[in-house]
Formats: sequence, C-alpha cells, structure tokens
Amino acid sequence: MVIMVSRLKVLQFLSASALALVLAGCGAPLSATWQGFPPDATGQADGKDTPRADAGPDCAQVKCVALTFDDGPGPHTESLLDILDEHEAKATFFLIGKDVVKFPDIVRDEAARGHEIGNHTWSHQDLAKISVAAGQRELSKTDAAIKEVTGAAPTVMRPPYGTIREDHMKSLDLPVAMWSVDTFDWKTRDAKKTVKAAEKVVPGSIVLMHDIHPSTIEAMPKMLTDLKARGFHFVTVSQLVGDPKPGTDYKTGRQAAAGN
Ligand code: NI
Repeated sequence: MVIMVSRLKVLQFLSASALALVLAGCGAPLSATWQGFPPDATGQADGKDTPRADAGPDCAQVKCVALTFDDGPGPHTESLLDILDEHEAKATFFLIGKDVVKFPDIVRDEAARGHEIGNHTWSHQDLAKISVAAGQRELSKTDAAIKEVTGAAPTVMRPPYGTIREDHMKSLDLPVAMWSVDTFDWKTRDAKKTVKAAEKVVPGSIVLMHDIHPSTIEAMPKMLTDLKARGFHFVTVSQLVGDPKPGTDYKTGRQAAAGN
C-alpha cells in the first residue's frame, strides 16, 4: 500500500521557530528525567510562541495517566496527534524502527509536539526468542533512526508482546515501559470497547494502545474527554514515573498503588 504523507502539513506546522527548537534539541544530553526539550534549548526570548514540551503537571500532586501507542508510526498517526493537541494531552509512542524511516515527518512531528518517543525494536521482534546480540541490533538500529530524524535518542523502550528475557534486560540502556491497562484495541478494533477499557484507569496507570488502527484513533476524543472529566492529566511515561532507570521495568507510575 502506498501511503501519502502530508509533507506540506508537517512543514506548515514546523514554523521557523518550531524548527529552530527541534534543531536546538540536537545533541543535547539526555537527562534521566525526560521532560521534553532541555529548558536551555527552548529559553530564547523569541520562544514564547513556540509549541514546546514542558515539565508537565506534578504527578505527585495531581491525577496523571500515561497513554501509550505502539507499532507506529502509520497513516493514522497524524490525526491522532491533532486530537491529542486539542485535548492538551502528551503521550508516548513506541516506534517500529523500519517504519520510522518510512514516515520520518510523522516521527519528527511527534517529537516536536512534545510527545515522548520510545523504541519498539526495528522489526517487532520477540525479545524472548532472539539472542541478546540480535536484540541489541534491533534496538540500536532503531535508536539511530529515531535520533537521525528527531535529533534525540529515544528515552524508553517497550519490548514487542511485552516479553523480554532477563539477559536482554541486563543489556538495556533504557528504562522498560510495560503497562497496567490493556485496552485490547488491536483485538477488538472497536472504538466503544477501547473507550470502555479506559474506565479501569487509576492515577499512575500506563495504558496500552496502537495508533495503527483507525478504531483506536476514533476512540480517542471520548476517552480523553472522559478521563479529563475524572480529573486526569495526560503525561508521558517518563513524566509519570518521574525518574525511570535503565534496565528497570515499569507497569505503572507514581500514585498507582493509591488507586482512586
Ligand atoms: Ni507491538
């Protein structure tokens, strides 16, 4: 299938100032607590009209949830980005490396709009079934592709199928983001069921979804509206967890134990 990426749209979005912000992010050291672009890279006097990531809400004080989208980028991702912007929501995207090189403009847009970028291997390999060396190749190739496109390496990873062996875990230089709420959007392909699944969200939940399915995008306006009505703020995985450590896996962020 040939997919036309709206290059014009992306270019329109990337105003000169936004472009400067992306370029300013190049080569900036990765902080353990990812909070978007480093403040010193965005603090120019002319930066006030620039769409920029910030530290986000204080998830120790307010109800936060991390919405996560796996297996993209794909042809539906741009509409999702617009919906997230309309609801002032930040999310985390776990990208397939071979699709990063197919849709670089979308990946650049995800980063420019302040979402967190995660590594989901080059070709969606099951890390329980391949060697550590093969896994490292899958991950490092994807790291490089993301860095090439956005100027920054990914800050988290999620193993395909949520499976990973201990030897792989030990070899990782990124935190591992699992999830606590599975919407089963890939299975039901039903927007109503996807919305319903998010009723299980509690403060600190990490929600698993996939932006390659139209039904998932269709579910988003209502899911975001419902969760917002329940008082939730939408943050990235790193914002939710606070200070994720490499080689450690996180199913939830702060507050999850408290429930609600
Ligand atoms: Ni996946």
